[in-house]
Amino acid sequence: MDREFAYTESDFNKVRSELRDLTGINLADSKISLVYSRLAPRVRKLGLTEIRQYLRYLETHADEQEHFINALTTNLTSFFREPHHFDLLKDFIASGERVERIWCAASSTGEEPYSIAMTLVNTFGSFDIKTRVVASDIDSNVLNTASLGVYPLQKVDTLENKKHFFLRGKGNNSGYAKVVPQLRQLLDFQRVNLLDENYPIKPDLDVIFCRNVMIYFDKDTQAKILKKLLSKLRPGGLYIAGHSENFNNFAELMQPVGRTAYVKR
Ligand SMILES: C[S@@+](CC[C@H](N)C(=O)[O-])C[C@H]1O[C@@H](n2cnc3c(N)ncnc32)[C@H](O)[C@@H]1O
Repeated sequence: MDREFAYTESDFNKVRSELRDLTGINLADSKISLVYSRLAPRVRKLGLTEIRQYLRYLETHADEQEHFINALTTNLTSFFREPHHFDLLKDFIASGERVERIWCAASSTGEEPYSIAMTLVNTFGSFDIKTRVVASDIDSNVLNTASLGVYPLQKVDTLENKKHFFLRGKGNNSGYAKVVPQLRQLLDFQRVNLLDENYPIKPDLDVIFCRNVMIYFDKDTQAKILKKLLSKLRPGGLYIAGHSENFNNFAELMQPVGRTAYVKR
């Protein structure tokens, strides 16, 4: 294959092992071309000529790690993705459970934590509520996008109550919508690597959303991360996982309460 930058299978294996050490993400053999296309813009920007050269640069420049991670994470998300989880949150609140602190632990570009916040406002019937959402991700680019809260109109157009939650851009901003400040102030954004030993999040959380990120980790890493996440959740708190993340074999720690949703024992 004709490529702008020299790239070998051994480079791919180095990228894989570096990414696994830094983030826990396991890349399958089939991702060899994807990795090249994700790293090529960075290699070009740095004026380098080979992926191997880039890997040496990464070794000797600690601040390159952030760019390397940002380039290789997969950030697919959408507003109210897996809508049954938001219904579950609504029911959890309606049942009288305390819901004051929620952690959205792999929040990508923000659609998920804003969907959580919209659910809170719809359920409590006001923006003036006690509940706060901490949204975190390892990728600093997606966190910046999330924090700005600006989305293309087509992502927002199908949402119920969109006029309540978004301002339509005008002039240079036409084609985009921005989250209203009353919704934005319910969220805090923070960079958190789920692989880290200690999470900078206060314990006694009421709800954790950690969806569609565990799939990138091997089973041992998943178990370790799950235990660390659960140590931050209060007994009786709600843990919501992604559609293909099943934790039914952790029955001693949490009880299933719906599709890939659990209550901590
Ligand atoms: C596919 S997106 C899922 C987004 C959202 N939770 C959803 O379900 O729509 C996965 C996210 O996990 C993040 N991620 C990957 N590894 C991570 C890690 N070690 N710590 C924290 N976030 C991580 C990625 O940056 C990405 O934004």
